[in-house]
Amino acid sequence: MNERDSEAISAALEAGGLSATACENDADVLVFNTCSVRETAERKAVGKIGIMKKLKKDRPDLIIGVAGCMAQRMKDELFAKLPHIDFVAGTGQIHKIPEIINGIIGKREKIMNVGETSEDEKELLDGFGGHLYGDGKISALVSVMRGCNRFCSYCIVPYVRGTENSRPQEIVLREIRNLADQGIKEIILLGQNIAAYGLDNSMLGRKKSPFAELLGKIEDIDGILRVRFTSPHPAYFSDDLINAVVSLPKVCKNVHLPMQSGSDNILKKMNRPYTSAEYLAIVENLRKGAPEMTFSTDVIVGFPGETEEDFLQTRDLMNKVAFDNAFIFKYSPREGTKAANFADDVPKTAKEERNQILLKDLALRAEKHNKAMLGSLVEVLVEGPSKRNSEKWCGRTGTNKVVIFEPDGKISTGDILELKISRATSMSLYA
Ligand code: 5AD
Ligand code: SF4
Repeated sequence: MNERDSEAISAALEAGGLSATACENDADVLVFNTCSVRETAERKAVGKIGIMKKLKKDRPDLIIGVAGCMAQRMKDELFAKLPHIDFVAGTGQIHKIPEIINGIIGKREKIMNVGETSEDEKELLDGFGGHLYGDGKISALVSVMRGCNRFCSYCIVPYVRGTENSRPQEIVLREIRNLADQGIKEIILLGQNIAAYGLDNSMLGRKKSPFAELLGKIEDIDGILRVRFTSPHPAYFSDDLINAVVSLPKVCKNVHLPMQSGSDNILKKMNRPYTSAEYLAIVENLRKGAPEMTFSTDVIVGFPGETEEDFLQTRDLMNKVAFDNAFIFKYSPREGTKAANFADDVPKTAKEERNQILLKDLALRAEKHNKAMLGSLVEVLVEGPSKRNSEKWCGRTGTNKVVIFEPDGKISTGDILELKISRATSMSLYA
């Protein structure tokens, strides 16, 4: 989500005549797009922006702005914390950043803009703009909705990103058709509660899940080869959606399904309205329809009141699903959320230990899964030269595995290749 917003900020600045620099020392304008999900993310951002004080001292004309969730959450408190910044732009004001910068150039005043999403942002979101192309880019992020109505008890997102707002289906499809015309092959659909796409507006009451319907329509767009999406909430993963994911050929057979915990007790306290059995049933139904399906997830360890038994239930559910990847987070209380009123009673050492146990399980499993692929044929979408070694190229399977291979001189970024896996480690596959 933040990556997509950063792209939209860059595109808006480029449209206003600015161009990107390779290094912050060369820039006339620095915009920090921030995340508030965990305290560590905020601390890192404050640290990084703090370092910029020296640049600003050497070059007083440098314009420094803070955008995104932290801007929305802390508002003018940020000016007190970081006196060298010039502007604060909230989550609904991305499109206003060029205008804000012009205002600063004219008056050299500090500017704060953290209002609701305005009509002209809707225009920007509804238009074709806001994407960057070039450098053999084949994959594009497309935001289908903003905000979240779920209010999981630990989460700051609904407070900083507002309520759910789905973009009309035709407008999303138009944007994707336009991306296909620009040579994009893979679409990654984004929404905080993406499986609830369309349930907040006129699509409500339709028989079919509006998100499943959207996937079906994207399937028909020529030039698009693959579709991924993130993040669906298990409570909205209907049979309709399961059918769409397993049966539509362009929809990748890899689902990121945040579980958060494997303990029903903790799920209830998290305000996540599903049980571990219901979660597992979604996974099993997806696997029944597409046996090659791989899964990744988000997990929080050390949520208030999480006992050793609760943690073992999380570990057990992770083993049952056999995730290929997982983002494991140590619980971080966020001011203003419901869980911030619960005692943060799991000691730091226990959070760290639980984190390490799950990471180790994951690494062992990844190695086992990757080794099982030795000798098999896989279909990859070619992404281009490997970042580590430009003589090798990399591609990605629909199941979201990166495969490193030697190019034969005839292939190009965006091609689909069939490769035979010849070597496997816990981190990578080689062909
Ligand atoms: N503490 C730790 N992790 C959190 N997440 C959200 N809020 C918190 C928090 N307060 C995690 C969830 C979510 C992911 C994006 O971040 O796992 O799915
Ligand atoms: Fe946060 Fe996701 Fe829950 Fe929404 S569904 S409140 S974004 S964790």
